[in-house]
Amino acid sequence: MIKACVIGWPISHSRSPLIHGYWLKQHGIDGSYSRIPVEPENLATFLGGLKEAGFAGCNVTLPHKEQAFDIVQHTDESTRRLGAVNTVFIRGGEIHGTNTDGEGFLDSLKSKVPALSLNGQRAVVLGAGGAAMAIVNALLLQGMSEVAVVNRSPGKAEQLRLRFGGKVRPVLWQQRADVLDDAALVVNTTSLGMKGQPGLELDLFRLNPQAVVTDIVYTPLRTRLLEDASARGNVTVEGLGMLLHQAVRGFELWFGVRPVVTDELHDFVARDIDPDYAR
Ligand code: ATR
Repeated sequence: MIKACVIGWPISHSRSPLIHGYWLKQHGIDGSYSRIPVEPENLATFLGGLKEAGFAGCNVTLPHKEQAFDIVQHTDESTRRLGAVNTVFIRGGEIHGTNTDGEGFLDSLKSKVPALSLNGQRAVVLGAGGAAMAIVNALLLQGMSEVAVVNRSPGKAEQLRLRFGGKVRPVLWQQRADVLDDAALVVNTTSLGMKGQPGLELDLFRLNPQAVVTDIVYTPLRTRLLEDASARGNVTVEGLGMLLHQAVRGFELWFGVRPVVTDELHDFVARDIDPDYAR
């Protein structure tokens, strides 16, 4: 029996058990994937005891991603650019950490818009938190010429510029509608538009008709940003895709099989989010 889990504080809302449980069943693997609440002050003890507790690894979510980076013994270069870990796995008895958020974002985008070329293009990213950092890093590695980072707190957008260099252009929150005209991609990484949170107020008047618009919010499955962009004829990509695709590498690292994000898996998780969901 191979065991994995997701840890966070709180953790009750995580849908990762649904995704990994689906793949375990699909592949007939004798494994389990559970949710475990871990308080920040217990994180080092928990990760240090992961192997003894019989776990092949775990996902790490809020608020532990940065602290987990400091605790794990081995990381890869891309993860070091972020200083944040979302996937932990045991190799040779040692604790390894990696971050699959960026590839989850890109794989989701490419699965929905295969012809999308980011090289030499501009993006607008709303938000400058942990998710934005992974996405900005991924976009720059795709060769984008500029990533405008629009954030309510300007200091956090400035920090992304310091971390990733001059292709990151901090933009004031009040100016968010003015930078949309030549963007090939617009990404909302803020919590605005999420169920229970305030809405995202964004005037799409200047949105480039060719731009792909995506949201990392997946409750609701289609945010107002996506609906408004669709109504203008823009191609949109839902946030659930990122959640599904970021899970692929963790499953492969723990259970030894690279799983596939299928429509059936998408619909299974979508119905958990919205019981009325229909394709
Ligand atoms: P995550 O790891 O999911 O990115 P986070 O690090 O808490 O979470 O980041 C949340 C993002 O949503 C931040 O960019 C935050 O802006 P601030 O840096 O100014 O806090 C943004 N956000 C949250 N509530 C917001 C609001 N009411 N208006 C504008 N931006 C908001």
